[in-house]
Amino acid sequence: MYEYLKKAFLTSRQFCEESVGPLFDAFSERVVEIGFGNGDFLSYLTETRGEKTLILGLEVSAVCALKATKRLASLDSGNVRVILGDARYVLEKCVPSGSISTIYMNFPCPWPKNRHSTRRVTHGRFSGSLSRVLKGGGEFRLVTDEEWYAQEVREGLSANPLLDYVSFEVDPVLELTTKYASKWKAMGKSSYRLTMKKNREDRETHPEKMEGKMAMHCKLPLAEPAESRKQAEGLVGRKGAQGAFHWAFKSLYWSSEGNALLKTITSDEGFEQTFFFRLVFTETELLIKLEDAGAPLHTPSIRLAMDSIAGYFTEKP
Ligand SMILES: C[S@@+](CC[C@H](N)C(=O)[O-])C[C@H]1O[C@@H](n2cnc3c(N)ncnc32)[C@H](O)[C@@H]1O
Repeated sequence: MYEYLKKAFLTSRQFCEESVGPLFDAFSERVVEIGFGNGDFLSYLTETRGEKTLILGLEVSAVCALKATKRLASLDSGNVRVILGDARYVLEKCVPSGSISTIYMNFPCPWPKNRHSTRRVTHGRFSGSLSRVLKGGGEFRLVTDEEWYAQEVREGLSANPLLDYVSFEVDPVLELTTKYASKWKAMGKSSYRLTMKKNREDRETHPEKMEGKMAMHCKLPLAEPAESRKQAEGLVGRKGAQGAFHWAFKSLYWSSEGNALLKTITSDEGFEQTFFFRLVFTETELLIKLEDAGAPLHTPSIRLAMDSIAGYFTEKP
């Protein structure tokens, strides 16, 4: 099981910075499922698409991603990868152009309230990412229980000249009934399937390298460590922004050695991450280090947050 998890489960950082190139080169076809939940459909794809097709599942929930990978382990198939991360970001920043045959999205959260509309997977630059990563003739298939949502996505994607409308089906015969499909069916709700197709062939190219190799630690000279520890408390509640890059420091946890973990939330053009900075106080120095356990992607807002911590300690008396 451990060996399987190690191979099939990737954080978005592992995928984006290490695996994507060799992995994509090893398969002739690739399909993606966004938001696979308990992994019903992902398992189905893995079993039915053949071993020359890479199946990529993108899921933002760690619990779902781990459960689904454990389930996939029983299939012991080499052609599936579970990627823990925000599909919008992974598609936009890491997936090569013209590389994907089909992108499936089954029963995404529609976020019906207007003030939550930016949380919809299809919001913002999704249309551009979709038309970039699909192959010529490649399809996007959305199934949802919300007709207004399917229509909204249809309208949004139809405005992209690289995408053609194929069909809009009411109560289609689904390849597989997922957990949410069963749930809505049991409540007597209809389902809607939108299919869009890319109308142009693109050469397969990798997106520009992300800022993955940015230094994610810094050292400051410290005159009075005890004073600086007290001062650290003042970081909590601070936030900042530079253009579309935002950061906020939420809470501080002290170790018995007098070092601290600073819980931080960042947003890079809407891509959110929650992680910790480690603050290590010695007699003469403060080391600020990105805590790697949650494998956050090294994005510009993380660097800006780190600069803001350093600035806070150097500017204050
Ligand atoms: C309502 S569930 C549907 C699960 C599954 N597709 C099904 O039909 O049973 C929506 C899933 O999308 C995931 N999700 C939401 N936003 C996402 C994003 N930006 N990237 C990847 N997954 C996302 C959620 O964590 C959740 O597992």
